[in-house]
Amino acid sequence: MKPIWIKHASQLVTMEPELKGPRIGNAMSELGIIEDGSVWMESGKVIRAGTTRELELEFEDREQEAEVVDGAGKLVTPGLVDPHTHVVFGGTREAEFERRLEGASYMEIMNAGGGIHATSRMTREASEEALFEQAYTRLDSFLKHGVTTLEGKSGYGLNLETELKQLRVMKKLNSVHPIDLISTFMGAHAVPNEYKGQEEAYVSLLIDTMIPMVAKDDLARFNDVFCEKNVFTPNQSERILEAGKRFGLIPKIHADEIEPFGGAELAAKVGAISAEHLLKASDEGIRAMAKKGTIACLLPATALYLREEAANARKMIDQGTAVAISTDCNPGSSPTTSMPLVMNLACILMRMTPAEALCAATVNAAYAIGEGEQAGKIEEGKKADLVMWDVPSYQMLQYAFGVNHVQAVWKKGVRVV
Ligand code: NIG
Ligand code: FE
Repeated sequence: MKPIWIKHASQLVTMEPELKGPRIGNAMSELGIIEDGSVWMESGKVIRAGTTRELELEFEDREQEAEVVDGAGKLVTPGLVDPHTHVVFGGTREAEFERRLEGASYMEIMNAGGGIHATSRMTREASEEALFEQAYTRLDSFLKHGVTTLEGKSGYGLNLETELKQLRVMKKLNSVHPIDLISTFMGAHAVPNEYKGQEEAYVSLLIDTMIPMVAKDDLARFNDVFCEKNVFTPNQSERILEAGKRFGLIPKIHADEIEPFGGAELAAKVGAISAEHLLKASDEGIRAMAKKGTIACLLPATALYLREEAANARKMIDQGTAVAISTDCNPGSSPTTSMPLVMNLACILMRMTPAEALCAATVNAAYAIGEGEQAGKIEEGKKADLVMWDVPSYQMLQYAFGVNHVQAVWKKGVRVV
């Protein structure tokens, strides 16, 4: 396979690969921008990234063997990372969307057996092949929007058989689709209808049967819980996350989305790698997360879709919490596959700066799923996951909103879009 040589990119954003760890405070704005940038990719890796002049000195003699890509007027960034999706699911919930517009709340619909329960029914009924085909198409859409690494959760099975089915689908997608897919077990997404009134029995099923089985089959890296009023209490969430830890599953937590519920505090207490949503997180919770190094994974598209006020990203960044952003792609509260839109919304709804939004969608997103040393930066010797955007600057990418500016995507050095 020919090496690929990008030349004359008006901005090459490397994300400063020599900086280690998730970015906090002002470091979120250090993008490592190289003007008139150039990248040489070969054998799936970035061999060199610098100015066009620097690379010409080094690679002039090899120009004939490479495929040269003109980057004039274009922005080049690391492939985006989406650190929180529910990408494998059966069916859709457009009728529920209409009901919410008429005034029904997300939780009312869920507590009446719709919402997550509706998707659970459709996911149980769907064949493994159908789930695979539908999710594959969704991943294609992510790729067209510049995502090269993505996390996916189970949690629409809510029984052993279907949770495993979702996780197997993700494992297969990871092996055949260009996107790298990291799996999370989220059997604690809701208490299934058949366990209504016997919540503790379902918690036991999760702890005694499902978590050990998921770990034994090596089907997930993370264990996530929907810690929310009328779903899982902080105490139940803690027991489920601690059980996961005993089997090597790293905790994540859907925290303080609908009501303040101590989720951010719990994330810090159990040492979660990230806490998600945080729309209603308390000041103490945010401080505890900053102290513990728990990444805040914020989901502004979900806030918009539920017509809720978005999380207080400014406060989190000011207090030293690393912030990542994600689509939360799911059929109920965020049916989107667009990380560019999420970056736009991070700026518009949460007043993150264009630079912070890009950091949150690349390097911090990668750290939120344990991929910080493999993804989210343009680093010599590492995977060549790159996006070329049809805009001259990262500011323009965040400014001209709701538009897909992707022009080309390379995954492990191969052009996939
Ligand atoms: O992250 N809040 C819980 N889980 C998902 C929504 C799932 C659904 O509605 O199907 C979320 O928003
Ligand atoms: Fe979610």
